[in-house]
Amino acid sequence: MSTVVQATPTRSVAIPPMPKADPCLVVIFGASGDLTKRKLIPALFDLACIGCIAGQQFDVLGTGRTEMTTEEFRASMREAASTSKDARKFSDWNWEQFEKRLHYVAGDINDHGFYESLKKQIGELEAQGASSNHMFYVSTPASLAPPIVQGLGKSGLAKNAKGWARIVLEKPFGRDLETAQALNKEVLQVFDEKDVYRIDHYLGKETVQNILVFRFGNSLFEPIWNRNYIDYVEITAAETLGVEQRAAFYEETGALRDMIASHLLQLLTLTAMEPPVAFDADSVREQKVQVLRSIHRMTPEQVAERTVRGQYGPGTIGGKAAQGYREEPGVKPNSRTETYVAVEFRIDNWRWAGVPFYVRSGKRLGKSETEIKVHFKRTPQAIFAKTPDDDIEPNVITLRVQPNEGIAMSFAAKQPGSQMKAVPVRMNFAYQDAFGGQAPVAYETLLLDAMRGDPTLFTRGDETENQWRIITPIEEVWQDLPAPQFPNYDAGSDGPEEANRLITSECRHWSRLGE
Ligand code: BG6
Repeated sequence: MSTVVQATPTRSVAIPPMPKADPCLVVIFGASGDLTKRKLIPALFDLACIGCIAGQQFDVLGTGRTEMTTEEFRASMREAASTSKDARKFSDWNWEQFEKRLHYVAGDINDHGFYESLKKQIGELEAQGASSNHMFYVSTPASLAPPIVQGLGKSGLAKNAKGWARIVLEKPFGRDLETAQALNKEVLQVFDEKDVYRIDHYLGKETVQNILVFRFGNSLFEPIWNRNYIDYVEITAAETLGVEQRAAFYEETGALRDMIASHLLQLLTLTAMEPPVAFDADSVREQKVQVLRSIHRMTPEQVAERTVRGQYGPGTIGGKAAQGYREEPGVKPNSRTETYVAVEFRIDNWRWAGVPFYVRSGKRLGKSETEIKVHFKRTPQAIFAKTPDDDIEPNVITLRVQPNEGIAMSFAAKQPGSQMKAVPVRMNFAYQDAFGGQAPVAYETLLLDAMRGDPTLFTRGDETENQWRIITPIEEVWQDLPAPQFPNYDAGSDGPEEANRLITSECRHWSRLGE
């Protein structure tokens, strides 16, 4: 791309203040875990600092297997928040106000007696002024969700006569179609669907929500958003990060379940869905499910042709040596877990018939970037071309989810001079330039929505089942195939070479990371 044209906002718009949450008591299961420290507490803390959470009517009751006192819990959360980039308003004074609202009780989620002591603890907090609205946040591995749901049901905590009771369930929701169906059944015996919030934090990202505004808030793009104009779609979520402290989780999960089954399918459905009649939970979720239903279960032959998996070996990222996956602490030396996946999905409906959606995600790649690239068809005739090199490049719309959030559009422009030569230029809209300020982080948006009772950005039960309906057959075929030759890509690269075989047409190719 030779030239960049900067798009300027037509007016400067300040980010409006966030709405207020209902008063509530948040009970976190898995409060001594990584997610609570890294995401939940920093997000709740920031929401409190910006006044979205009612001071006296907001409390967090952390629970977990780790024995610790409330004071120890507060100290450990303080340490995490003080170093978290998500706790943007961290100061000693702000934290001291917030930490008064944090409480902790240890217990075993498989022990019925634990839910009785939880109930007692909640009663005591209410007697001290805590809210009677309860949000149960399940931030444990998926396999621990069923006993928690049963415990909440049997103890009566799920039915709350004095206020509302909602449950938030972290991804992955189950580990295959069968476990997702069983978990949905279990949850719906205890809670009404309207009180169930299955979280996928990608839906809380501003730029992910912007896909809908871009598509349905403009009349310009929607008429060409279909198989008549679009050649193929590429969706990438590349990370330079490895598995960090989460080897045990990742060894059991792998990239297909961790990223493709949830985040990447969310990006795909938002890119491909039909216009909803309104921006409300039912209308949006219904259209997303329709897209998933149009993706047929792959046959074993299709899995072999349309999927590629990889695992990173040692390499260099940003000038620093990076070890291979099998050398990471907690990873088996002969691990078969995939850290990279590329899949070609076909959406068999009227709008998308014949348009491949190439989706890839991997750890320890050369660049961190999440984006959707919509590649348009070539012009029907190359009227300016004198040589094959003069051929006009097809238009591409890039929806950048992160980093450098924004949208870019490439098109041909005449190169100045006596020759009639077309060169590609890029028009760029950058969120930061247009709106300045800081957009809320995904977990803030989603926690606030759950506390306000808005499920639009959460996954409906049948949506999670349809995600697994697509993913589980891939996983099953992989299990039956001979062990892959891992590692098959270097840390710091664009992923395995083999991913190129998915895109066989000479006019299509994966974009280089950072391109
Ligand atoms: C999580 C995955 O859901 O998303 C992680 O479990 C991954 O493995 C993370 O690193 C990526 O999220 P983000 O917001 O950094 O793109």
